[in-house]
Amino acid sequence: MIIDLQNVSYRRNGHMILKNIDWQVEAGEHWIILGLNGCGKTTLLEMINGYIFPMYGGSANVLGYQFGSCPIADLRKHIGWISNALSQNLPVNDTPLEIVLSGKFASIGLWEKVSDADVKEAEAILDKLGILHLKERTYSSLSQGEKQKVIIGRALISNPEIIIFDEACNGLDIFAKRDLYRIIEKLAEENKSIFFVTHNTDEILPIFNKALLIKDGEVHSKGDLKEVIQQENLQDFYGSEVDVFERNDRFFIFAK
Ligand SMILES: Nc1ncnc2c1ncn2[C@@H]1O[C@H](COP(=O)(O)OP(=O)(O)OP(=O)(O)O)[C@@H](O)[C@H]1O
Ligand SMILES: [Mg+2]
Repeated sequence: MIIDLQNVSYRRNGHMILKNIDWQVEAGEHWIILGLNGCGKTTLLEMINGYIFPMYGGSANVLGYQFGSCPIADLRKHIGWISNALSQNLPVNDTPLEIVLSGKFASIGLWEKVSDADVKEAEAILDKLGILHLKERTYSSLSQGEKQKVIIGRALISNPEIIIFDEACNGLDIFAKRDLYRIIEKLAEENKSIFFVTHNTDEILPIFNKALLIKDGEVHSKGDLKEVIQQENLQDFYGSEVDVFERNDRFFIFAK
């Protein structure tokens, strides 16, 4: 098991954001995480990354790191996190090369000395993502899709076991999305565990086999994707009537 959350709760400013979450993930599973704005998805992922700890006696174990009973500072190096929240915090004048290198140290900004081998590795990743020609530009001068690829490169350089995409398709054109889907499929082939947060079910690629639905900070349902993403369950989840279509192994949900 790579993630074992038991009875996890978290409170911010007097508001319970996560409530009694139980969630177990086995190696080789790829999870979709769905939930309305503000339900706690990003907060849950912050916990998986070791930025916040469970409260009220809950227990969290991620990749063998038991929260509260062993140092978890290194945990983040095993997890790639691709999110717009991260994008907003990156130093705007850093170059794509520096930002990708900073992923080696799980740091915001590049503060450590890097070797020639590190630079070569970062350049190889930029090349694989098709943005090597942008390596010396400033991050702030890049388009949204180019920025997204830099963040993906930053996540990949530490060769993480878990890769989290938190609304990673936002702002991408249809071809940039297609490129991202190919990257995700390739990562799944390389035995990474992929977690994908989205509001758009048509972004659920066939590689995903599990789904976690969060409602108001609680697990509404979880398990095999095809059992969770079905009309009756989704109507209960959204509290509203929806139509669900499946086409070419992709799902489409429409509010009725
Ligand atoms: N630093 C903070 N201080 C206070 N409240 C916060 C803080 N960060 C998040 N919250 C609140 O916690 C709740 C859950 O936020 P979270 O970012 O986890 O939601 P989310 O499910 O990722 O939503 P979205 O789909 O909009 O990204 C929200 O009500 C949010 O306002
Ligand atoms: Mg979020």
